[in-house]
Amino acid sequence: MSSSPLTDFEIRIDNWVLDAIDCAVRQHTFGSLVRALPGVYPASVAESVRRLGLRIQVPKPSGGSIRRRPPAHPPALALPHPFDSTWRFDRRTQRLLANAIASLNRQRGRVALLGTPTLVGPLVDVGIAPERLVVVDRDEAVLSDIRKRYACEAIESDLTAQDPGGPISSVVVIDPPWYMDQFECFVRAAGLLSSCGGYLIASVPPSGTRASATADRRAIVRFAQENGFALIGELPGILSYQTPLFESNALSAASIGEIDDGWRRADMMWFRREVIVTAERPSVVPSDAWDEVIIGSVRIRIRARADSSMNPLLLGLADDEIVASVSRNDIRRQQADVWTSGNRGYTTEAPGLVCAIARACRESESSISRVELLVGFRLNASEAERVVATERQLRRIVEVEEAEYETWANGGIEGVAMDQAG
Ligand SMILES: C[S@@+](CC[C@H](N)C(=O)[O-])C[C@H]1O[C@@H](n2cnc3c(N)ncnc32)[C@H](O)[C@@H]1O
Repeated sequence: MSSSPLTDFEIRIDNWVLDAIDCAVRQHTFGSLVRALPGVYPASVAESVRRLGLRIQVPKPSGGSIRRRPPAHPPALALPHPFDSTWRFDRRTQRLLANAIASLNRQRGRVALLGTPTLVGPLVDVGIAPERLVVVDRDEAVLSDIRKRYACEAIESDLTAQDPGGPISSVVVIDPPWYMDQFECFVRAAGLLSSCGGYLIASVPPSGTRASATADRRAIVRFAQENGFALIGELPGILSYQTPLFESNALSAASIGEIDDGWRRADMMWFRREVIVTAERPSVVPSDAWDEVIIGSVRIRIRARADSSMNPLLLGLADDEIVASVSRNDIRRQQADVWTSGNRGYTTEAPGLVCAIARACRESESSISRVELLVGFRLNASEAERVVATERQLRRIVEVEEAEYETWANGGIEGVAMDQAG
């Protein structure tokens, strides 16, 4: 039992858990309890179960944390990286949203997808021509995958720093990272792209996401009003997400085992544009600069800063290297120089050298030659040894995360059953 008093939010979580418990106890699973709650993070549910002394077994990790449904459509998008706060809709939600969007788009206008790239395929499937779709996102790797497959417009833009280019649309869909500065920027961008009489659909964090969720919802409605949108409907908890590999790993690192995919839920709100008005651009602290090297399916972000020594060796920021949190406010995000799509975080004295070594691994070149080209002199024996040791570290990380990716992407009996059911 914790010695500090419970917060209001912890008491609310306990209350939701107790309300949901009858059904969960009957089914004897922690996973069904998590799914019955309004988007409460599984580690917080585990704490509540312990606090309340309930006889519900919190499953221990064994391999991957999440039992998955079949990969979502389109299957070939770059892996989500935690620094983009990428949580993708599951297949059910993609279909649901595609139908809702098509029904709002009776005039056959354009549809703008801000931070919602997985909706392209399902919208094409329901009969919206790719030429009528515009995707805006800051993740260039995902946009490039979309361009390879669809003839839609795909615009790279950081919506916290730039106004989106792009045509005026009759329906705009947003799913920003779930932080209020991001919501404010995305809603403003939606206004810039929206016609008068057009619609905005937003995925909104449900009440169990965090202590401030109820106030956050009011703020989102206010941002919408400031950009000329009036709320016309909301449906709690109807949107659900795939658990990304980085979160599956983070849950394992927090000793939470198998939970069915789709536990993370969102509320859907939709608005109509009544007035053409644009709010001031909020000032957002610019995010740090990172380089990215993709090796196989593994995305490695490396801090763009000057090297402080010739020693590139990686030091893990957590036991087992996986950080047990997916919050952008976790202090280790500020300390890190290297962060992978599997949520492994490291420091290094020489991120520039790590970048050169990672590129050499990707191109199957000599890492020593790459580093020598970068620094402009021949390495001595101990410098060369450290470069080779760092290359070994990177290769091991890639090997482990590729294996995790396989389990994550294909795992689960449930997935096979659903595939066969079509
Ligand atoms: C919460 S995810 C939503 C993904 C969506 N549910 C889907 O299935 O397509 C957030 C999305 O916004 C993008 N994103 C994050 N920060 C952004 C920014 N500042 N500007 C533009 N896009 C951003 C991410 O790359 C990601 O695609």
